[in-house]
Amino acid sequence: MLDEKGRPLYAIDYNEKPVVLSSAMGFALADDSTFYKDFVIIGTDQRLVDETWNPVWGEVKQIRNHYQELTVRLQQKGATGRLLNIIFRVFEEGVGFRYQFPRQPNLRYFVITDELTEFRLTGDHDSFWIPGDYDSNEYSYTHSKLGEVDNRPVVAAATDIAVRTVPDPYSVQTPLMLKTAAGLYINIHEAALVNFAAMQLHVDKATMTLRSSLVPDALGNKCFLHAPAVTPWRTVIASDKAPAILSSKMILNLNEPSATTDNSWIRPMKFVGIWWELQTAKSTWNYSDFPDSTDKEGKPIRNGKHGASTINLKRYIDFAAANGIDAVLAEGWNTGWEDWFGNWKENVFDFITPYPDYDIGEITAYAKLKGVSLIMHNETSGSATNYERQADTAFRFMNRFGYPAVKTGYVGRIIPRGEHHDGQWMVNHYERILKKALQHHVTVDAHEPPRPTGLHRTYPNFVASEAGRGNEYHAFSNGNNPDHETILPFTRLMGGPMDYTPGIFRMKGFTGYAPERQIHSTLAKQLALYVTLYSPLQMAADLPENYEAKPDAFQFIKDVAVDWDDTKILEAEPGDYISIARKAKGTGNWFIGSITDERSRQTVLPLGFLDAGTKYLVTIYADAPGADWKTNPEAYVISRYIADSKTALRLSLAAGGGTAASIVPATAQQVKQLKKYK
Ligand code: NOJ
Ligand code: CA
Repeated sequence: MLDEKGRPLYAIDYNEKPVVLSSAMGFALADDSTFYKDFVIIGTDQRLVDETWNPVWGEVKQIRNHYQELTVRLQQKGATGRLLNIIFRVFEEGVGFRYQFPRQPNLRYFVITDELTEFRLTGDHDSFWIPGDYDSNEYSYTHSKLGEVDNRPVVAAATDIAVRTVPDPYSVQTPLMLKTAAGLYINIHEAALVNFAAMQLHVDKATMTLRSSLVPDALGNKCFLHAPAVTPWRTVIASDKAPAILSSKMILNLNEPSATTDNSWIRPMKFVGIWWELQTAKSTWNYSDFPDSTDKEGKPIRNGKHGASTINLKRYIDFAAANGIDAVLAEGWNTGWEDWFGNWKENVFDFITPYPDYDIGEITAYAKLKGVSLIMHNETSGSATNYERQADTAFRFMNRFGYPAVKTGYVGRIIPRGEHHDGQWMVNHYERILKKALQHHVTVDAHEPPRPTGLHRTYPNFVASEAGRGNEYHAFSNGNNPDHETILPFTRLMGGPMDYTPGIFRMKGFTGYAPERQIHSTLAKQLALYVTLYSPLQMAADLPENYEAKPDAFQFIKDVAVDWDDTKILEAEPGDYISIARKAKGTGNWFIGSITDERSRQTVLPLGFLDAGTKYLVTIYADAPGADWKTNPEAYVISRYIADSKTALRLSLAAGGGTAASIVPATAQQVKQLKKYK
């Protein structure tokens, strides 16, 4: 509706109770700071859509896209008569709306200096937030009242984050997870972030209003557009049940379908890599310790600790082959790592020149022989211009050596200098790389991009991204809080899968230079994360020797699927606990992950989702009695039973712990030999 000043306003109710009170919409443009008022409604259109589609990979086999759409066509009074459409889609679990700038004579090329969309909330809700940083999403979450949001101490303490740009102390990132005093769960984010700057939210504490705050470009503008154009969808998902937030597919549904018809080459994968060695300083990315220095023969001086060597890679390929792991990632295989970071240097890597001890031909042949794929690593060090210049060459190189996937990275300040990771220029860069990868049949795992917004519907080769605080922080900083992984699905993962790199088995003493560091989790919880943190690309992050020391627990990582026909969110509470069951694609096998925060927890999970009448073999990987993330993190017990759809599992999770379980149809012999679960 429009108010008396011709300002568009919207409001959202859930079960006849307000979620978002009447809130402002519109823009300030460079040539018109009032593109939010003096409008009249010149027309409306409505339609109902109810369709289903099958994702190339995902948490479920089939997705229902069911919404009512209302397009409100507005025209500004006055000489220019500029047009603006606002499109609303109302789903069962939430609302998405976007702005559309139609083709028109008086609005062609234009600059958005501010988006004025507001979310006026009904009170001082509980919130799970990270600072509104233009360059990073890698913070620990703060659980506080909205009225307590002040990101300054959080930003100041986060010295482990390479680049921090947070000018507004009261800004937070989306997805923002809220809970009202009445127990309503609200999630605010955006869908289909394309050719636009990422939206952050400024918290106006006086009115409990969140205001869209777009990440600026190098000149301080927000977006440079050419009509016809659309903005991303602003999304509000609400439910009085927390699991409904996690099972919502609204953000995916608001993205465009995949334009490519042949997606059969895209494969979900598990992988290992020399990565944890690098993170824990057992080996190095760089070949030499000195940039630009050579020995008498003109060769770079070896430091003797280089991780990506032919010999080491073969060891990991052997390990992957022996354990049914699909792929191996090698970082630090290409020249440039001696001074890759911190110099805001443009031409860092060329993405095709291996270090002298990395025989790419030999490694590729060996991997092929062993039936293992290789994952390419393209760290750009934030120099996106350099990567764009090299991208054709880099992707042709991947094709030549048969790499089906690439992990990209953007550590450091962005080049073009002055741009931010989450601004419009970089949003477009990431999309260009996704498109290029699609043409070359390569899947992408992007590190340090903006947090995802469901774009993997449109680009199913966008299999994962980081854009959040991963397990790696346990290696090079004080780590993640034990409740971190209970918050991630409600925040960072709402937009898409995360390359969290779970599966650490050696919980203490993994890095020589900081012996006090430990993983803030039990081992059993590390297993459960393969189910609770959804991704079609999952790393088994620890060193082969740490898996070989515990083959019985490693069995779960070998068995667990990465692609699913069905998902049941059994129970969830942000910041406290999550239990999820998933059915592996094309099989009758189920996997369960259940995790808790810093508190121990007892829970009962009924297996009513199993096929009635089938007997299953349940293998439970649990925290052992006395396990505790701090004092006794590696203690686990594995037990096997026969169960069916009437069984209810009673789980006992240690402080900072979890339980993983696999449930597969049992053989007649197993039914005879094993005890029934009671
Ligand atoms: C940060 C990434 O998150 C990490 O996975 C990677 O190993 C380093 N950058 C180097 O690219
Ligand atoms: Ca908690």
